[in-house]
Amino acid sequence: MRRAPEQPVPASAPVQATAAAQPLGGEAASIVVPDASLFVTADPTQITQVLINLVVNARDAVSERGRILIEVDRVDLDEAYASKHFDVVPGHYALVSVSDDGSGMSADVLAQAFEPFFTTKSPGEGTGLGLSVCYGIVRQAGGHILLYSEPGQGTAD
Ligand SMILES: Nc1ncnc2c1ncn2[C@@H]1O[C@H](COP(=O)(O)OP(=O)(O)OP(=O)(O)O)[C@@H](O)[C@H]1O
Ligand SMILES: [Mg+2]
Repeated sequence: MRRAPEQPVPASAPVQATAAAQPLGGEAASIVVPDASLFVTADPTQITQVLINLVVNARDAVSERGRILIEVDRVDLDEAYASKHFDVVPGHYALVSVSDDGSGMSADVLAQAFEPFFTTKSPGEGTGLGLSVCYGIVRQAGGHILLYSEPGQGTAD
């Protein structure tokens, strides 16, 4: 994907674009955007791609009945947090979170989820590139991406 110049993008913009572009699976999908004045410096197309990839994964995980929650908020990452997480620079960040109450991931799947071409989906249903693309885009933009998941408890990323 060609990169557009980085520019201030409202953190909520890709969320709204994703919601408009994707039929969200599940019986309920909620979007929480408490601070519309929150901006990130990024390529808007790429940031939207991250959201789309995460929402598609959530939709696949919840199948017909489940919940997907998209949240945007401010977060301050302090020295204590930075010292416990690889390569995190303390500072003010936008937190964008996509949670679902779908299948969740086993520890084994979780450990490989960011690897290019790692997929648990059938051939033709997944390339295994979604999360690795997300990782690259988020790191390029100076951000961090984390996954939390337990089998049967859903996933947040
Ligand atoms: N929200 C989620 N719930 C449960 N498992 C997930 C979730 N998101 C990702 N995974 C697991 O991580 C794997 C890798 O995800 P990734 O998005 O990289 O590839 P994919 O979804 O399989 O294929 P693609 O994104 O290319 O269509 C998935 O196959 C799935 O096993
Ligand atoms: Mg995917």
